[in-house]
Amino acid sequence: MKRFRDYRKDQATRDRFADVEVNADDFIYPYFAVEGKGVKNEIKSMPGIYQFSLDTLVEDVKEVRSLGINKVLLFGVIPNEQKDERGSAGYDENGIVCQAIRAIKAAVPDMIVMADVCLCEYTSHGHCGLLKNNDVDNDATLPLLAQEAYVYAKAGADWVAPSAMMDGQIEALDAKLKETGLRKGCKIMAYSAKYASAFYGPFRDAADSAPSFGDRKTYQMDFRTRNQGLAEIEADIEEGADMTMVKPGMAYLDIVARAVEKYKEIPMVTYQVSGEYSMLKAASMNGWLDEPRVVFESLIAMKRAGARYIISYYAKEYMQKWNDRFQLKNKSV
Ligand code: PBG
Repeated sequence: MKRFRDYRKDQATRDRFADVEVNADDFIYPYFAVEGKGVKNEIKSMPGIYQFSLDTLVEDVKEVRSLGINKVLLFGVIPNEQKDERGSAGYDENGIVCQAIRAIKAAVPDMIVMADVCLCEYTSHGHCGLLKNNDVDNDATLPLLAQEAYVYAKAGADWVAPSAMMDGQIEALDAKLKETGLRKGCKIMAYSAKYASAFYGPFRDAADSAPSFGDRKTYQMDFRTRNQGLAEIEADIEEGADMTMVKPGMAYLDIVARAVEKYKEIPMVTYQVSGEYSMLKAASMNGWLDEPRVVFESLIAMKRAGARYIISYYAKEYMQKWNDRFQLKNKSV
């Protein structure tokens, strides 16, 4: 008989055999930036997560930095009257995300700033690209995404993160950044295997980015496929991505694990999306789940699957309240 229980006999022993950890360095913290002053709007379906104006955003980023988190991911949210068919506000050099990048870089220079590159927050129809016959036109959308990445890189973004799920988007961004001499200073985090998921529901409240008709199933992936996600990741690596991503997180860790085994050359990221946050938060607020423990367990699951970085709405709260409790203090070599 093999005595597995020897590994578990007390906390110090369990800590010694633990080989998966979560640390501040693993986190990427998302932010929603809006126009205005003194704005801190809580998102109804995501308690604890806010839309911030630049001033309150910078204050929060300072706090997050002091907790050890050194990567943020920015989304812009704009009023309906500023949206148009082409999502022009998304590639305006004075748009909300460019302003946020500059403000964060000025106030917290050692914060790594990542910017989501997509048009759904800026188009009047809420789709991720240009429409033609009520569907998104892939190739006509590419130059707009490239332009958006270019203005973000020029504003000082360290990473651009294309999430529109257009074919060829990594190649288009890579070429544009090279052409403009910005590629060296700006890396590409590719939302590679991004599934058409109902778990994005709360995000669409936060970013006011729901499609006004139809859904995203002609561009985001069908989750009833086993291997397409790997092919998307491989294509993005070939096109020049510096990191790839699987999104959502917890329900898609099979894809993370398989991709990490197969493509070892660049880091994998997973996104614990809005719906995952809201589920854990709502159940915890009702007293139905023990929040620190379920959050820790979910984050560990993502690391165990092989994710190097985790985009999580829980990053700040985890570092603030729970990190100490779960650190491996007793670990001996
Ligand atoms: C933009 C984008 C979305 C998310 C990240 N980037 C929404 C979508 O695709 O509908 C979702 C993030 C989340 O749910 O937390 N395309």
